Amino acid sequence: MEQGLTLEGKRILLIIGGGIAAYKSLDLIRRLRERGAIVRAVLTAAGKQFVTPLSVASLTGNPVHEDLFCLTEEIEMGHIELSRSADLLVVAPATADLLAKAAAGIANDLASTILLATDKRVLMAPAMNVRMWHHPATVRNVAQLREDGLLFVGPSDGEMACGEYGPGRMSEPMEILTSIAAALQPTSQVLAGRRVIVTSGPTHEPIDPVRYIANRSSGRQGHAIAAAAAQAGANVTLVTGPVSIPDPVGVSVVRVETAKEMLAAVKASLPADIFIGAAAVADWGIEDPVAGKIKKERGSGPPVLALVENPDILAEVSRPGEGRPSLVVGFAAETGNLIGHALSKLQRKGCDLIVANDVGPGTGVMGGSKNTVHLISSDQQEAWPLLDKGEVARRLIQRFAGMLGK
Ligand code: C5P
Repeated sequence: MEQGLTLEGKRILLIIGGGIAAYKSLDLIRRLRERGAIVRAVLTAAGKQFVTPLSVASLTGNPVHEDLFCLTEEIEMGHIELSRSADLLVVAPATADLLAKAAAGIANDLASTILLATDKRVLMAPAMNVRMWHHPATVRNVAQLREDGLLFVGPSDGEMACGEYGPGRMSEPMEILTSIAAALQPTSQVLAGRRVIVTSGPTHEPIDPVRYIANRSSGRQGHAIAAAAAQAGANVTLVTGPVSIPDPVGVSVVRVETAKEMLAAVKASLPADIFIGAAAVADWGIEDPVAGKIKKERGSGPPVLALVENPDILAEVSRPGEGRPSLVVGFAAETGNLIGHALSKLQRKGCDLIVANDVGPGTGVMGGSKNTVHLISSDQQEAWPLLDKGEVARRLIQRFAGMLGK
């Protein structure tokens, strides 16, 4: 057994879905128990086609749960308690069907009901045919689940039981075990007692009552940062422009439309220890938004829109003086000369750090679930690998906490 990988007394609820990889889950149970974990298992109807309840019960040393409406099981331990009494839920194999149900919030059997009812972290170990993994529906479901805060291990690349090759193989039990140990680590409260303000999303600048200028920002990165800061113990205010993603958990949300409203909301939320300007604030607004809808009149040609510069929220918050947050972080979304633009932005705005990302065509960053960022300050330049926006957020928060501590 590896050094340090003890799971003594940890309660794992393992949901075994219907896939050929289910046999590996038997080995996973054995390894979990070797390390002192207490394992309860739920076997889906499809899972039962691959491993038997008897082998699962023998290995866990506990009754296997199979049925949402089983009276004896409900009396012994109801599905709500089952979902709450564990320290961690692990779904292995997580089939395309289980991922889809969890992403949509469907609760029509014991496994999916538990996933909807739980208040614990959930680790998914997907396993499916490579084409199913690449199907837009699965890609969408996985992105949604990641955004909802679920954790993933794998799938890995390799030869599949169906004869095809590619990603879709369930991770090996040892790899899942390592992810379980990581997921059980308490999230370190590096920002306990700190106040954090985050801006996120686009702004909408009205032209008339029905039209506006906007941009493609989804708010995903800013929202993930607010969520990560809250998880790290901070008191977080998220000032967000119009977005279609859910509010992060544990954060006070102030909704605004225009850059001017965003500035006012940020000012009202100060003071703070950290300000993170992740919003894609429109640089220009319409000088004189029209009160009534502009009509298309024959012969008069298109209207001329006079633009005015919007207030620069980041520059205002960065201005030296009493009440300036100890750490002010800006973002730079660029389509070229990333570092050069970021360096000049750092100077122009007066912030302490710029998180720069390439949003050029083909990167899929704007609106997507992944991001490649560079950290640029007066004394450092650092390139990070392509990461999930949630992971970027967690790492950024750790970094910001370190910078505050200096
Ligand atoms: O100048 P640019 O828009 O590229 O700068 C990006 C950074 O400045 C981001 O952190 C963004 O949130 C912030 N910003 C702002 N107010 C503006 C424009 C940008 O806070 N009016």
